[in-house]
Amino acid sequence: MKEPSAERGWHERAWQTASKPDTIRRAIYIIGALPAAWVFYRGFTDQLGADPIRTLEKTLGIWALRFLVVGLTITPLKRLGGPNWVRYRRAIGLLAFFYAALHLYAYLWFDQNLDFAAIWKDILKRPYVTIGFAAFVILVPLAITSNNSMIRKLGGPNWNRLHKGVYAACALAAIHFIMLRKAWPPEPLIYAGLITILLAFRLYVYLQKRTQRARRAA
Ligand code: HEM
Repeated sequence: MKEPSAERGWHERAWQTASKPDTIRRAIYIIGALPAAWVFYRGFTDQLGADPIRTLEKTLGIWALRFLVVGLTITPLKRLGGPNWVRYRRAIGLLAFFYAALHLYAYLWFDQNLDFAAIWKDILKRPYVTIGFAAFVILVPLAITSNNSMIRKLGGPNWNRLHKGVYAACALAAIHFIMLRKAWPPEPLIYAGLITILLAFRLYVYLQKRTQRARRAA
């Protein structure tokens, strides 16, 4: 009998457990939303400094990136013998999308005044905006399919394949952050370094599995 793959295993557990009441998952959503609540509160009470729109945009962008990195850390952590937080990965991914959407919203509304002609021009003209936009576009189908009914509809392998798009989104988000800073401050480089290590880990696991399969087939 064919063994279910490890990937399919976690995925099945993910949707089976998702419907059960889960205090930790709820806590993740609530705690994860706090930075957004805090920055909007500071915005409404005029505490965002000399350039509030920029501060708002930056804060939301950095939190989107943080949640992307946390989401990417979950599998390596488990494989290296750490805690198994796979069942919380979807919540983390949705929080990353939530922050990316608010970041885009801040850009569209507060930065560009919903002037869609100017926005489109900006997306085409400034490469870091193009790249940020591409990262967001990749995240949209992942967020839409992050519910039990879509997982069932797509089927495990297709769902897994689609959700590998998060790797591209993370790489683009890291490039977006590096590009928008003219100099080389440490923060974007640290995020890019972390994302590179986490993606390299995935590549290593993938290559290892492929070699094992080839050996078994030989
Ligand atoms: C996955 C999606 C995205 C992530 C993770 C992300 C992340 C970030 C980060 C970390 C920053 C820098 C914050 C800082 O300087 O401390 C930033 C800035 C910026 N992002 Fe994004 N971004 C994303 C998508 C987008 C999109 C879709 C747009 C617009 C179409 C966009 C436009 C901008 C702009 C204009 C800035 C510069 C803000 C400023 O300093 O004036 N980003 N983003």
